[in-house]
Amino acid sequence: MKKWYAVIGNPIAQSMSPTMHDAWFRENGIDATYIPIHVDAERLGEAVASLKRLGCSGWNVTVPHKSAIIPYLDEVDEVARRMNAVNTVKVLEDGSLFGTNTDGQGFVRSLQEIGAAPNEVEELLVIGAGGAAAGISYALEAARFGRISITNRTLEKAEQMAEAFPGSHALSLKEAQMAIDKFDLIVQTTSVGMNFAQSGMPLDPTGISEGAVIADIIYNPLETEFLRRAQEAGGKTMNGVGMFVHQGALAFELWTGVYPDTKKMIQSITTELG
Ligand code: ATR
Repeated sequence: MKKWYAVIGNPIAQSMSPTMHDAWFRENGIDATYIPIHVDAERLGEAVASLKRLGCSGWNVTVPHKSAIIPYLDEVDEVARRMNAVNTVKVLEDGSLFGTNTDGQGFVRSLQEIGAAPNEVEELLVIGAGGAAAGISYALEAARFGRISITNRTLEKAEQMAEAFPGSHALSLKEAQMAIDKFDLIVQTTSVGMNFAQSGMPLDPTGISEGAVIADIIYNPLETEFLRRAQEAGGKTMNGVGMFVHQGALAFELWTGVYPDTKKMIQSITTELG
C-alpha cells in the first residue's frame, strides 16, 4: 500500500515541505506521498487521532503545534524534551507515536556542509533564546562546537537558557556587540529580518573577525540585512535554506532509512525563493 506522510500547522499553505519530500520520494523510488494539512490549535488532538486512524506513517509539525503536540505522543526523545518541541513524528510498528526534533541537528549538518568544522570554532555566539536557539545550542554542544555564549533581547531568557547548557553563559546584547570580534561562529535565531515584516537586525555584525562564520536561520528572504552586513564585513555567511533542507532530510531518513540528496534540494529551493 502507498505510504503517506504529512506536515501539520497553521498557516501551512506556503510550506515547501510537500514539494521537497515528494521530490525525494521520486528520486529514491519510494512509493509514498506527503501532504500539507491545516490544523487549528484547538483541534490538534482530533487531528492526531485522525492521522493515526487514516494510516499516516509519519508527519512533521510546525507552528503553532511543536510544543502542544507532546502530550499526544507516546514517546519523545531527549532532544525534543530538552527543546520542549517536536518537529517530526514517526508512527512505529505497534502504532505508537514517537516524536523527535531534527531542527538543531539539521542546522549542524548544514554548517558541516559548508565546511565549518568543530575544531575551527572556539567561541560561538547564539542570538536569541527561544526554541530554535535551544535546539541549535543542543546540537552544537553535542557536536563539540566551542564555547557557547547566548545573547537575547530579554536577558533573563538568555540566562535561563545558559543554565541548561553547562559551560555556556549569557551576555546582554550590548556585551555581545562589544565582543563581536571574538566569535568564530555567530548564529542568528530570532525572527528579526524575516519576510521583510520585521526589518532590522538584532545585532550589528560590523567588526566581526575576518573569516568568521555567520549563520542566519531565516531563509525568506534568502539574505537578511544581518547576513548582508556580515558578508560586507568579511564573514562567511550561511542562510537558513540548508537548515530547512537538512531538518527535512533527517525526518526523511527517520521514516525511510535513506538520507536524501540535500545539495540539489538546497539549489532548487534557493532558485525558487530567489
Ligand atoms: P523560535 O521557536 O522560532 O525560536 P520563540 O521561541 O518565539 O521562537 O523565540 C523568538 C526569539 O526571537 C526570542 O529570542 C525573542 O527575543 P525575546 O526573548 O526578547 O522575546 C527573539 N525576538 C523576536 N522578536 C525580536 C525583536 N524584534 N528583537 C529582538 N529579538 C526578537
